[in-house]
Amino acid sequence: MSCNGIVTILALLIGFAAILYLLYQTYSYIKCGCGKYGPFVSSYGKIKEDMIEEARAILKKSKHKMKVTDLGCGSGALLLPLAKEFPEHEFIGYEWDIVPLTMGKIKAAGLKNITFIKGDYMKQDYRDMDLIMCYILKVTGEPLGKILAENIKESCVVISEMFPLGHLEEIKQIDSSIYGVPEKIFVYRKSKVEKGNSKKVSAEKKTNSQPVKTEKAVKSKTTSKAVKKNVKGGKNVKKK
Ligand SMILES: C[S@@+](CC[C@H](N)C(=O)[O-])C[C@H]1O[C@@H](n2cnc3c(N)ncnc32)[C@H](O)[C@@H]1O
Repeated sequence: MSCNGIVTILALLIGFAAILYLLYQTYSYIKCGCGKYGPFVSSYGKIKEDMIEEARAILKKSKHKMKVTDLGCGSGALLLPLAKEFPEHEFIGYEWDIVPLTMGKIKAAGLKNITFIKGDYMKQDYRDMDLIMCYILKVTGEPLGKILAENIKESCVVISEMFPLGHLEEIKQIDSSIYGVPEKIFVYRKSKVEKGNSKKVSAEKKTNSQPVKTEKAVKSKTTSKAVKKNVKGGKNVKKK
């Protein structure tokens, strides 16, 4: 084949890849409520390692099987290394974008303790979860925090990458800054105030309706008393 032929084929391939990329970006933007929710951006670098380290410290010390989830798990950057390291615990990723979800499923091939579920993380049931991780947009921190505050059990720990969540009780912040770029991890548990409110909500719930419309009820008998103690692990901790 001539040099011109090779250049033409290369140009066509690059053009095709660029069109696919643009189509995906458009799909992703629409899928994420036109900017209301964060698109797929994988965790990477120091903050990713610190998120994993924080979860690792909790999982390592637990004497019970724990249920761990990543809300908007992307291709499993946070869940996959943990699922490989802790076969005794269960990992569930919720993701509504089919592209990272498929990538995650492919990477998880052979792992029995991880499930990728296609769905909206604002509509799931978190009552059985022991550890919740997320890397969401700042604007989602308030509504998501409210849903979690009303629906997680008392021993559940929530770890948020980059942005704070509302309504939960902050246990600590971890400084993940690198090269002068400020980056933080926020660690929470169920707020005492919200616990009071949620009792009120539960009482109302008996007469009215459910606080959260769940897409899929996640059932498990998993409990963990060790979690509260374990959340004290971690580096560069600023205690509250
Ligand atoms: C910033 S990425 C984080 C991905 C992954 N957690 C990580 O740390 O690598 C946020 C992900 O959440 C997904 N997402 C955003 N809103 C969602 C929603 N309401 N339900 C399910 N997934 C959502 C996006 O598609 C995206 O893949």
